[in-house]
Amino acid sequence: MPTIEIKGKHPLFGTIAVQGSKNAALPILAATLLCDDDCKVNNIPPISDISNMQILLSATGKQIKQQSQTYLCEASKEISPFASYDITNRLRASFLVAGPLLAREGYAEIAHPGGCPIGARPIDLHLKGFSKLGASIHTKNGYISLKANKLKGNKIYLDFPSVGATENLMMAATLAKGTTLIENAAAEPEIIDLANFLNEMGAQISDAGTDTIKIEGVSSLHGGEHTIIPDRIEAGTYMLAAAATGGKVTLTNVMSEHLTPVIAKLKETGTNVTMKDTTVTVEGKSSYRAVDIKTLPYPGFPTDLQAQFCAMLCCAKGTSIITETIFENRFMHIGEFKRLGAKITTEGRTAVIEGTPRLNGAQVCASDLRASAALIIAGLMAEGTTTVSDSGHLLRGYHNIVENFKSLGAQIELFS
Ligand code: EPZ
Repeated sequence: MPTIEIKGKHPLFGTIAVQGSKNAALPILAATLLCDDDCKVNNIPPISDISNMQILLSATGKQIKQQSQTYLCEASKEISPFASYDITNRLRASFLVAGPLLAREGYAEIAHPGGCPIGARPIDLHLKGFSKLGASIHTKNGYISLKANKLKGNKIYLDFPSVGATENLMMAATLAKGTTLIENAAAEPEIIDLANFLNEMGAQISDAGTDTIKIEGVSSLHGGEHTIIPDRIEAGTYMLAAAATGGKVTLTNVMSEHLTPVIAKLKETGTNVTMKDTTVTVEGKSSYRAVDIKTLPYPGFPTDLQAQFCAMLCCAKGTSIITETIFENRFMHIGEFKRLGAKITTEGRTAVIEGTPRLNGAQVCASDLRASAALIIAGLMAEGTTTVSDSGHLLRGYHNIVENFKSLGAQIELFS
């Protein structure tokens, strides 16, 4: 795994164009399995999670032609509804092909995606929803088989507003017979983007973005074209890096309405944030206030920016409290921050951060995608040199992140 070396205390200045959303592109590419026509998807981020989804789709027979950041997902008469462990093991989101394959082929056999460092990542809500739509479910040798001659619309209540379960069940319900209601549904912007794409394909989905989504089943879907929304988590990562280093950074191709909780919390620290059309400018201060953060389903504060905000709060004036309500093990970055001199204590899903005037560079190790980005932010804040080992996680979700930080004036190098 590559290592990143950072010489800290260089405020960031400049402009970054935000890529398309990883978490919108993954379900939308899976959704192209639902029709026999060509689909054109623009603004796909060039990251390894997308490459792995492309490998998975071509293994089912769905051929994808890539023209820069536009993917042409070609019509495919023969689809093999099978996702093997060697692929699902590399991409947890591979389970998002379950709904489309079940709806289109009446059958899907997918290796259980397993967990990841931030949590067990169960799929019980996906499976409960599929059975409500009439599918039979069997698990054997680590594979899940789903079978249904014809899915039937039903009312599905999600015990938790799971993003993936909402996406999988919405996709499956598009070709079910009759009406499906998904109650206590996730409302993330990525859900709305997927619903918009499905409706462009001829689906009849209403109220995506609310806690109850209605899907009127149709007999078939056709091809469509779509442009992926900007990645709010990538945008938030650079915003927090600018604020934490006391620099001034403008982000272009941003939908600021997707970043309301992050902007509100940054302003609460005293950071200056201005929005104009599709740009957001963050101007950090040499000293900023502590704030409390509680991660929640959208429109609450996003769990995917918790580690990055935690990095910034290590040097805030005062004591901050972070509560992580979404994942059971998303504080792995905290032990690494303490190696840099941060004063943090954790109790279950709560972290108490006593702001300290400075962090000092050290060797740290990345555990997952967003923790890796948080460790870079901490390294940019620290006096001296910080090396982040196991930085390969970054490539899953951030395109050109080292080059981008370099273009903003960071002293940062990637060693493969
Ligand atoms: C999506 O994961 C995102 N990934 C995650 O982003 C994000 O953190 C998460 O939503 C929450 O916003 C993609 O969209 C590809 P969930 P997902 O189902 O769908 C529990 C990143 O860094 N749950 O909303 O897997 C689960 O254990 C990644 O880009 C069940 O109990 O998240 C967790 O505690 C990380 N049973 C909570 O729900 C289920 O069947 C949220 O999970 C499903 C989920």
